[in-house]
Amino acid sequence: MEFTFYGHACFSILFNNKKLLFDPFISPNEQAKDVDITAIAADYIIISHGHNDHIADAIQLAKQTNATVISSWEICAWLQSKGIDKVHPMNAGGKFAFDFGTIKATVAQHSSSFVDGSYAGNPLGFIVKDDQKSFYYSGDTALTLDMQLISNYTNLNFAILPIGDNFTMGVMDAIQASKFIHCNTIIGVHYNTFGYIVIDKEEAVKAFKKENMELLLPEIGETIVLK
Ligand code: NI
Ligand code: MN
Repeated sequence: MEFTFYGHACFSILFNNKKLLFDPFISPNEQAKDVDITAIAADYIIISHGHNDHIADAIQLAKQTNATVISSWEICAWLQSKGIDKVHPMNAGGKFAFDFGTIKATVAQHSSSFVDGSYAGNPLGFIVKDDQKSFYYSGDTALTLDMQLISNYTNLNFAILPIGDNFTMGVMDAIQASKFIHCNTIIGVHYNTFGYIVIDKEEAVKAFKKENMELLLPEIGETIVLK
């Protein structure tokens, strides 16, 4: 699996030769100014919730890529009202077999509204799996006991968790989450983009190492290969 970071909580993962793009937020992110958004391709765009730092470029990229957007019922309906027809609505607890593998939507403890304040459904996380491999993107969430259920469903190869604190889990809660999901390879996202979520990257990596876990913090634009 290949992971490419586009800043904040936006990344793509190549899974069985399909490019899955998560939480498109690039053009408003000053730190991602070197990312050429017009060069981004995707087969699927997967959106965890309606906050602008996860959805800002969704309409543009859905049009540009002709990808199918997978998200909550409410976000899919909103996209359809904006002329995006290739959508697949899901909700927490449900799974569906796509051509690249199965997505299971998980509970996320957060909020979800559009920029105008209207309701965007419940926030979601996602487990993507096939018979050999799987990963988990928690979306924006608090540490929750529900995460303990995930290892009953699958043995994760890696997980993408927010580590910036204030709006989501911080580093220590993300370490506890990694224990709950029995996963030792974590990619940290949702940090250092705004003043509220500034962390010390080195300290974060050290804190994971102390628990014999690896925290990966790729640079914006960097691609890493994961087993
Ligand atoms: Ni959010
Ligand atoms: Mn967010």
